[in-house]
Amino acid sequence: MKILVIGGGGREHAIVSSLKNADVYCIMAKKNPGIIKSVKKYLIHTETDADAVVAFAKECGVEFAVIGPEAPLQAGVSDALDKAGIPVVGPRQAAARIETDKGFCRDLMKKYQIPGSPAYKICKTPEEAVSYIHEYKGDLAVKPTGLTGGKGVKVMGEQVDREGAALYASTLKDQNIILEERLLGEEFTLMAFTDGKTLVPMPLVQDHKRAFEGDVGPNTGGMGSYSLETHAFPFVTEKDYADAFSIMQKTVAALAAEGCPYQGILYGQFMNTRDGPKVIEFNARFGDPEAMNVLTLLTSDFAVVVEHICKGTLSPADVSFAPLASVCKYVVPEGYPEAPKTGEALSFTPMDGVTVYYANVVEEDGVLKTLTSRTMAFVGVGKTLADAEQLAEAACRSVRGNVRYRKDIGTEALFAKRISHMNGLRK
Ligand code: AMP
Ligand code: GLY
Repeated sequence: MKILVIGGGGREHAIVSSLKNADVYCIMAKKNPGIIKSVKKYLIHTETDADAVVAFAKECGVEFAVIGPEAPLQAGVSDALDKAGIPVVGPRQAAARIETDKGFCRDLMKKYQIPGSPAYKICKTPEEAVSYIHEYKGDLAVKPTGLTGGKGVKVMGEQVDREGAALYASTLKDQNIILEERLLGEEFTLMAFTDGKTLVPMPLVQDHKRAFEGDVGPNTGGMGSYSLETHAFPFVTEKDYADAFSIMQKTVAALAAEGCPYQGILYGQFMNTRDGPKVIEFNARFGDPEAMNVLTLLTSDFAVVVEHICKGTLSPADVSFAPLASVCKYVVPEGYPEAPKTGEALSFTPMDGVTVYYANVVEEDGVLKTLTSRTMAFVGVGKTLADAEQLAEAACRSVRGNVRYRKDIGTEALFAKRISHMNGLRK
């Protein structure tokens, strides 16, 4: 089987690694030092250039394509590949609006009476948003409706007060702004493979968005993530899980009813509140870092799953994950996300039980150097969370260079805090 992967970050390195019995090709904007070692052929080129992607796909003679990041989905690269007769894991532009247009997502959920949405208001101008923020009783989350790389949200009572929220909204010119009721709870990620009809869930994962230990500092693309050997979390009840999965199934059905069938990976980011799971957002792709947890645990060949998604024949029997825990920690440049130090050399010691995924990093004359975003990820897998965490931690500690990581991700202490937070909310 010949498969083209579009994208060149840590998530795409994990995707490439999980396509076991396939010849893999890759088109990426930057030369990922891990991906280039695992693929038959690659092209360094803008990932959103649909014509170039189709031309490379044809040149390589691929049967299927997998799109990693959101930008090519928004640019209609799936549509172009489909038109050229190459089925894609990754929805077409119209269906990808579930991620690329947060207003579309909320309106769709409302129209199809899908539970799990917070109260929201879409504002066409900063002025309208500012006056709503001043009138609203309670805390709001302020977001542009378009893509922001996970860094565009300001939550009242967390990063900003009411004045700060209004000030932030006033800077969001020439785009729609969405104001949402602030949700309180524990976040979790539920991702599913889907061929447009059947959804097959992956293990639950929890991401850590904040830059620093103790969940403080600015939001990032995600500093790391963990999953348990049960593939569940003690702070998500069986009912919460069933409700979250049902919201995802209904959303895929709603997209089909709108004439935008959805094929690929659906990523649900949920806030588990005292009233059950609420949707923070959907993404039209694997999460990064969450992909690195689930794909490291995937025991089936992802290439076979790709084929079933593309042919519309997906069934739960095609997908299995090791009953193990995983901890993924990202090493990032000093100063990330606000003023990342680029061009800093780094090195690490390979370790048994740890999978290394290269992300925003270059190799020059055999030396790895940081770029502006997350550098590389270390995934520890073990029988328990503690085992997995110790492995990921040891690997990160071995890294030399002007980089840092969050020591607390996956630790028993932080995990206990999550559980007691949820118990407190349920009282
Ligand atoms: P997003 O870019 O939508 O993933 O949001 C980034 C982060 O902002 C999420 O991981 C949440 O922690 C937070 N957030 C987004 N929307 C809300 C909301 N309605 N209530 C509380 N927190 C939110
Ligand atoms: N980890 C969050 C995301 O991929 O959007």
